[in-house]
Amino acid sequence: MHAAVVHSFGTPPRYEQFSDPIARGKNEVVVDVLAAGLHPRVRSQADGSHYTSTGELPLIPGIDGVVRGPDGRLRYTILDETSLGTLAERTVIEPDRSIVLPKDVDPVIVAAAMNPAMSSWVALRRRIDFKRGQSVLILGATGNAGRMAIQVAKKFGAAHVIGAGRNTAALQALRPLGADEVLPLDQLAEAANVDVVIDYLWGEPAAAGVVDMITARKERSDPITWIQIGSVAGPTSPIPSAALRAARLQIVGSGIGSVPGRDWLKELPKLVHAITKGEFDVRSKAMPLKDVEQAWCTNTGDRMVLVP
Ligand SMILES: NC(=O)c1ccc[n+]([C@@H]2O[C@H](COP(=O)([O-])OP(=O)(O)OC[C@H]3O[C@@H](n4cnc5c(N)ncnc54)[C@H](OP(=O)(O)O)[C@@H]3O)[C@@H](O)[C@H]2O)c1
Repeated sequence: MHAAVVHSFGTPPRYEQFSDPIARGKNEVVVDVLAAGLHPRVRSQADGSHYTSTGELPLIPGIDGVVRGPDGRLRYTILDETSLGTLAERTVIEPDRSIVLPKDVDPVIVAAAMNPAMSSWVALRRRIDFKRGQSVLILGATGNAGRMAIQVAKKFGAAHVIGAGRNTAALQALRPLGADEVLPLDQLAEAANVDVVIDYLWGEPAAAGVVDMITARKERSDPITWIQIGSVAGPTSPIPSAALRAARLQIVGSGIGSVPGRDWLKELPKLVHAITKGEFDVRSKAMPLKDVEQAWCTNTGDRMVLVP
């Protein structure tokens, strides 16, 4: 088969011949890949920087995608840590850990949307006790996951959603998605009284945001839950200890591990349903898998999806 293969970390994968995958476990099957998203997590897998990296090479990256199994059905699948990812013509999955899709779905839309959308969907449904009528601030709202988080928060009944990011021009485009307010990162004090923060940035912007918001918060003993989901601005954040004492601030993370696998599997069918019914505005760009090197170096803001 053909696949995108990483031979050295720091160099984009190359499209080349690779041995066909073999199903080894009794629950495994070989499937055809129809579409796989080039998510930030796939890039960090391919450059060896993700914390789960074992350093094993060669590596076919790709953590999820839309596949067709031997039974002919379309499925959305998330792979466990593997060096045989979804950026290939074929891969190996466990059908029990995948979701059967309706026949008429657009594989590119599903492959583009699931990873960014599930980040906020699962966080609000499974990581905290989110209630209708609460207010939400999203840090990194102009990215794919941030744009989805606006729509997901609104779907779950958020009364007021504020989108914040560094790209002030892109912020204006968040209003049609449901953002009631948009803010540049140096004005987070204006979001001081929200109930929930969905944070895709971490790093310095999160630390500065915590200080600005706690300082300006009207009722410091009202709970504020900060959900750490992504770290595009830095893997560590120098949040001052005083912020945790001076306000009823709770910081929780959401991702695979902090939310058990069975809980993800329970949420995914509902998310698939919302995506395939067209409830979310999804920005995707399909590219042939053979052009993976070009896709790797392109960033239009739309989620790149590689199609074998
Ligand atoms: N835990 C989970 O369940 C989960 C699931 C999905 C994603 N994630 C994580 O969530 C994060 C965002 O994913 P995504 O799909 O939205 O990525 P994305 O589409 O690439 O968007 C990233 C956004 O971050 C902004 N950004 C990058 N560096 C920044 C910085 N130094 N300061 C401020 N803003 C910065 C970019 O803004 P510009 O347009 O200005 O460049 C862009 O809007 C990633 O870390 C990803 O791994 C986590």
